Amino acid sequence: MTIQWFPGHMTKARRQIEDKLKLIDVVIELLDARIPLSSRNPMVDEILKGKPRLVLLNKHDLADPQVTADWVRYFADQGFQALPIDAATGTQVKEILPRVKELWADKIATQIRKGINPRAVRALIVGIPNVGKSTLINQLAGKRIAATGDKPGVTKGQQWIKVGTEMDLLDTPGILWPKFEDQMVGMRLAATGAIKEELLHLDEIALFVIKYLVRNYGRGLQERFGIEELPHDLENINEVVKVMEAIGRKRGAIVSGGRVDLDKASLIILRDLRAGKMGRISMERPSEL
Ligand code: G4P
Repeated sequence: MTIQWFPGHMTKARRQIEDKLKLIDVVIELLDARIPLSSRNPMVDEILKGKPRLVLLNKHDLADPQVTADWVRYFADQGFQALPIDAATGTQVKEILPRVKELWADKIATQIRKGINPRAVRALIVGIPNVGKSTLINQLAGKRIAATGDKPGVTKGQQWIKVGTEMDLLDTPGILWPKFEDQMVGMRLAATGAIKEELLHLDEIALFVIKYLVRNYGRGLQERFGIEELPHDLENINEVVKVMEAIGRKRGAIVSGGRVDLDKASLIILRDLRAGKMGRISMERPSEL
């Protein structure tokens, strides 16, 4: 797998965030509930050290609820409150403001004690491209402010956004990339659609996904594609390819000569996975750490 990697991007994003840091009270770190660690920017801990932080596990509607509950415990052990949300429908989004205020409660109390009217909490939203920042900002602001879309890495304008009178929000200045030079992280990001398909070998991602599904969600895979028997030896690539062929045949991805079009079959499995057609699936779990 070859992904272009430009360290210069990191330095720029880091500087842009550091410039804004003194204006920020609380950080909202948005992660993908299906892959909370792989969707994390590796520099965030270092850049934002000392800032109170709320972790949001977005796209919870697509993630395995039991695994998400494990992640909430995992983050609690690390000292962070984590809240599963679904920014697309707004589920649990109302819970964000009280949690943010809780993180800033001491400062609010001090202001009140000094006879000052507490000002709105200033929160910075950080997250890798495509994790759902624009969708969340639109939900929080109650209107369409940020442009959403399937365009990982597209920079958007920066401005403070008012969430009622109690919170002001700032979107990530610059682009925070994930740690995709790590092969497994790259695979998980590609599987969930966080990075462009053209950047990777489709069949390689699909084979990775099939192996993971056979291990963890075999039933969903069988039911979706009518596969009677799953491979027993996942180290044997031919057995895994057979599953891909069965998926292709089931969905009519056939080329001349009756062979299965493996690229098409790969796309089918990835699209179905991302749309939740095999059920709610998490691609990373704390028990694997
Ligand atoms: P970004 O600003 O962080 O780059 O992400 P953005 O909000 O543009 O969201 C990226 C994609 O993720 C969008 O889908 C968005 O609808 C989807 N999304 C965001 N939050 C959730 C969620 O909680 N659940 C689900 N299932 N999807 C979510 P898209 O296909 O690119 O666009 P569209 O379907 O909205 O047209």
